[in-house]
Amino acid sequence: MTTPPQTGELEPLIQELSRLAERPSQSGRGMPVGVYISDKFHDAEQKKIFNQEWLCVGREDEIPETGDFLTFKISAQPIIVVRLPNASIHAMANVCRHRMMRLVDGRGNAERFACPYHGWTYGIDGRLMGVRHMECTEGFEKERVFLPSVRCETWKGWIYVTLNREAEPISDRLNELLPIVEKYRMEDYVTIFSEDREWDTNWKLLCENFMEGYHLPVAHRSTVGKQFPVQDTVFDSRGRFDGFTYQCFSKPDGIQVGLAHPENKTLRGKWRKMSVMPTVFPGHMYVLAPDHLWYLSIQPNGYSKVKIRYGAAIAPEVLTSHPDKRLLIDEFKTLLDKVQEEDRHLVEAIFEGVRAPLSRPGPLSWLEREIQEFIQYLAHRLSG
Ligand code: FES
Ligand SMILES: [Fe+2]
Repeated sequence: MTTPPQTGELEPLIQELSRLAERPSQSGRGMPVGVYISDKFHDAEQKKIFNQEWLCVGREDEIPETGDFLTFKISAQPIIVVRLPNASIHAMANVCRHRMMRLVDGRGNAERFACPYHGWTYGIDGRLMGVRHMECTEGFEKERVFLPSVRCETWKGWIYVTLNREAEPISDRLNELLPIVEKYRMEDYVTIFSEDREWDTNWKLLCENFMEGYHLPVAHRSTVGKQFPVQDTVFDSRGRFDGFTYQCFSKPDGIQVGLAHPENKTLRGKWRKMSVMPTVFPGHMYVLAPDHLWYLSIQPNGYSKVKIRYGAAIAPEVLTSHPDKRLLIDEFKTLLDKVQEEDRHLVEAIFEGVRAPLSRPGPLSWLEREIQEFIQYLAHRLSG
């Protein structure tokens, strides 16, 4: 057995990942600790993964009206994603063309974006509309200035962006996921909240945690882990894991959350109890159940912090038939917040663990198969 590298040097870490990626899943092992605590490894991820891939910024119904916007960061690039008057969704740099101030934070509705530094004002399509005291500046033509646009595409209710002009369309990238998820009609689910948080951990620890159900009956025993039939988990059987992977699990009868509502007339047979958990690499993960979905989309902030966009949506028939929608939403959010808090505790404590001098990664369970697939994805992207 090889000794995992304990240094932060890039090449030995990538070589070790490539070796791990070659192992059959029944002898999979966790990643070397250096991948979580190396600046060089983090820089390589930013360059070869986050600057290249499609990243999810949220759901289309989070910005339904003209001028509704949300912000996001693709590696070092802050962006604005905004609904235009023609109902299309536009993404552009969130950096002023004057002296490069970030224009806007958070989310909201805007008729225009005014730079908080010297007041240059942009239309929601990114055209420079208003400036002051620039009449003496030689060669300055307001009409020729606009915020650079960023590729933005939607797929089944999700909004994806990329800095990569050459990336294949998101619909091609996720084409094989379509038959697995389309029966749920998730694009019709109604978003009930979406918010950002920042946790003190490496982004990959968070993804690994989301991708394995092994911890559910133990670490989530006081919330969603009760009676969780992890032994029945069904994995992606394509044998290729470049763009995404997923697992399916069935919920027991009689539980409150996770089953098809009687008014759901489209899901049939076993699918009325089945949830799918897709992970769209590198960082869009969701649980898609017959009655709800919840999602995470991550933005690494250095190797030791990760910003998480966290949101949930409910199937329309569940909302319309409930006598007290506010109560339903509040109860649902309270439950998910508890689960999130349980996971935050886990992945922050693991981050302490990986930095401890005596720590070494151990063998994986068959229920952690997606971690092996994640390793294969990372090795492929970083060694290419
Ligand atoms: S930096 Fe935006 S107006 Fe000066
Ligand atoms: Fe969890």
